[in-house]
Amino acid sequence: MLGSGKGSNFVALADAIGAGQVPAEVAVVLSDVPDAGILTHARNRSVAAEFLPPGCFRTKLDEDAERAYIARLQAAEVDLVVLAGFMRILKGDFLRAFPLRVVNIHPSLLPAFPGLEAWKQALDYGVKVTGCTVHFVDQGIDSGPIAAQEAVPVLDDDTPGSLHERIQQAERRLYPAVIAALARDRVRVRGRQTSVGS
Ligand code: GAR
Repeated sequence: MLGSGKGSNFVALADAIGAGQVPAEVAVVLSDVPDAGILTHARNRSVAAEFLPPGCFRTKLDEDAERAYIARLQAAEVDLVVLAGFMRILKGDFLRAFPLRVVNIHPSLLPAFPGLEAWKQALDYGVKVTGCTVHFVDQGIDSGPIAAQEAVPVLDDDTPGSLHERIQQAERRLYPAVIAALARDRVRVRGRQTSVGS
């Protein structure tokens, strides 16, 4: 699992695994942020957790860093790379190392509102429904084949914070369910078309 933030999706997945709902194990958590909450949550649960420096760019890993991330994940023999608020774009070499095995969760109903602070984009735009999307990662920004989505209402008195929290509640349901389906080999992908069994 790769994350840059507070780690609520890691906690939801770890809880779902602990409850026997996801036949998987988090082999390692990697972060580009030394004091990210996701690292603390992982260590509290005795999951290997490491800060790996991202290198000299702001929005992506540099070549050396990308190699280090790939090597660490391969050493852990991961079957799936789960992005949970990892705020850097992953490029060709990384994706080729894990073909169709990198998934991401995004806080909007894609293709609406890709990029940063999607909940704020939704609020500013004035949509009445937004949500979250689990998708396979390709070379674009939040553009890979969609595995699953959950809709979330936008309320008249929402603030960016209240809307983000409601979306994150949906994320904590949706992501473990999709990862369970992937672990059970119940997900089929053909071009942009996917089907997710239970
Ligand atoms: C999540 O809301 C996720 O959708 C978002 O970062 C948050 C991470 O939260 N990801 C993106 O915006 C990616 N474009 P967490 O650290 O509590 O899991």
